[in-house]
Amino acid sequence: MASPELNLINNSKLDSLAQPVQVIAVTGGKGGVGKTSVSVNLATALAASGKRVVLLDGDLGLANADVFLGLSPRYTLAHVISGERTLDEVLIPAPQGFLVVPAASGAADMANMSETQHLGLVQAFSTLAAQVDVMIVDTAAGIAHSVLQFSQASQHVIVVICDEPASLTDAYALVKVLSRNHGVNRFRVVTNQVRVPGTGAELFRRFELVAARFLDVVLEFAGEIPEDEYLRRSVREQRPVCEAYPACPAARAFKKLAARADTWPVPSGPRGNIEFFVERLVRRGATRVETVQ
Ligand SMILES: Nc1ncnc2c1ncn2[C@@H]1O[C@H](COP(=O)(O)OP(=O)(O)OP(=O)(O)O)[C@@H](O)[C@H]1O
Ligand SMILES: [Mg+2]
Repeated sequence: MASPELNLINNSKLDSLAQPVQVIAVTGGKGGVGKTSVSVNLATALAASGKRVVLLDGDLGLANADVFLGLSPRYTLAHVISGERTLDEVLIPAPQGFLVVPAASGAADMANMSETQHLGLVQAFSTLAAQVDVMIVDTAAGIAHSVLQFSQASQHVIVVICDEPASLTDAYALVKVLSRNHGVNRFRVVTNQVRVPGTGAELFRRFELVAARFLDVVLEFAGEIPEDEYLRRSVREQRPVCEAYPACPAARAFKKLAARADTWPVPSGPRGNIEFFVERLVRRGATRVETVQ
């Protein structure tokens, strides 16, 4: 028979597992706008502020979150999909104090995963033993169904844009398909590679004007990241700029973004989609009902 101590331990484990996880997808439509830079630095800044963070490399075809961090993963999501490894076994620690779920690079079958396999992958996160407060999902460029499903499965969607016509049209196309076909109607926009400080808000307003006029969406400006040579340098050095050059303008902007993300509301219950860590939301709802009665 289990001892009272053991019951206590098991119950406290259950309690912590019941905590909802804040899941933030970072997307943008166009390639090279800065999705991975935002993801990696958001993870770094949130971990530095004491959060338990997992960074999921959701760029299933051309993974590079590991490259940005100078990691050489032995196992990747491809091993999880093939059933050779569990998610816990592919997790690797980044020196910045968070965990990374690496994807495989150049694995065409990963980029072309079926919808069912993809849903299975989202659900597999429920088995993670690691205690997580926040998960950042770095997505691929474009509007392939993996990008759409990862975004739909997350509670918050960051859209990264920069001041180029193709970035704006691609981000618009992404927001359109997510809102019309996937029930995602709220987006947080980060303007990246901003050359003149303060003009990121202007770019956001230009984007919002068009999106709000033609689509049923709510867009919120989440902040601007300046064009910064230190960021380029840190990418070459395979270190997050927040850690390598913490006082540079881009690092300061990422820290501000992380502080803001920390204030985004934690979901109060499941939304009816396939969601990451959905069981914790369900359990949270059940706990709340019990407390109210
Ligand atoms: N704020 C910035 N200042 C200077 N350079 C930047 C900035 N943001 C991104 N870059 C440069 O752009 C490159 C591409 O950025 P990143 O890989 O983050 O984009 P991405 O959207 O993830 O690209 P992909 O679509 O290929 O995954 C970086 O290697 C970096 O050199
Ligand atoms: Mg990327």
